[in-house]
Amino acid sequence: MNRKKIVAGNWKMNTNLNEALELMNFIQNNSVSSSQVEKILFPPFAFIKSIKDALSIINKIKIGAQNCSEYNFGAYTGEISANMLKSISCDYVLIGHSERRRYFNETSKQFSLKIEQALKADLKIIFCVGENLEQRKSNSHFNIVKTQLNEVLSHVPKDKINKLVLAYEPVWAIGTGETASPLLAQEMHLYLRNVISQIFSEDLAQNISILYGGSCNSQNAKELFDCPDVDGGLIGGASLIGHEFCKIINSF
Ligand code: PGA
Repeated sequence: MNRKKIVAGNWKMNTNLNEALELMNFIQNNSVSSSQVEKILFPPFAFIKSIKDALSIINKIKIGAQNCSEYNFGAYTGEISANMLKSISCDYVLIGHSERRRYFNETSKQFSLKIEQALKADLKIIFCVGENLEQRKSNSHFNIVKTQLNEVLSHVPKDKINKLVLAYEPVWAIGTGETASPLLAQEMHLYLRNVISQIFSEDLAQNISILYGGSCNSQNAKELFDCPDVDGGLIGGASLIGHEFCKIINSF
């Protein structure tokens, strides 16, 4: 088993350029420089290049974009392609976040195309899945995430699966202060690993990192990361507070 531990900060549509640089510097100076945990920051598109240029090579923080276009290039006003991201040395791209699903009506078909573009551009991907409160209450959460995975991952070539990281983000826990209990997170992560094993193979399923996201903070990170199938976190709100985010990173 060769699973990477990852702590990723999704800054969403927050910060201005100075705040973004300050936050990156704080994290860079205060997080453990360990090769055990991969650290990834997802700033807004507009600041990626400045942040990338200001990074020290010592801490090895990786940088990702929060989205990319499903198209390669051309007359798509306002879109940003995976190739453009690669050309500014972006490492990762986030695809399938629930906010993209919910506010921008993005679909599995689009996520598949985006992943295809990202893979062509040689970007790594964090692909997010997760059920909403209604689906959890009606006990359809397993089927929902299975469908979300199947619809997208069945289009990913087997030899590219090592470019993917998964994030389980129950929508009812995102930005709400309500976190999945370690028990519940572990149950779902194990389930996701089984689905991956059905789509690809047991070996690939054992080697893919699955992150938890949804009100993860410095108080609950350790017990979540201690779960055998939780390989780290995708952090929203708490990643905007430097010392909180560093505590989360350092809780591994
Ligand atoms: P949160 O967001 O940590 O603020 O709940 C997580 C996410 O949306 O990635």
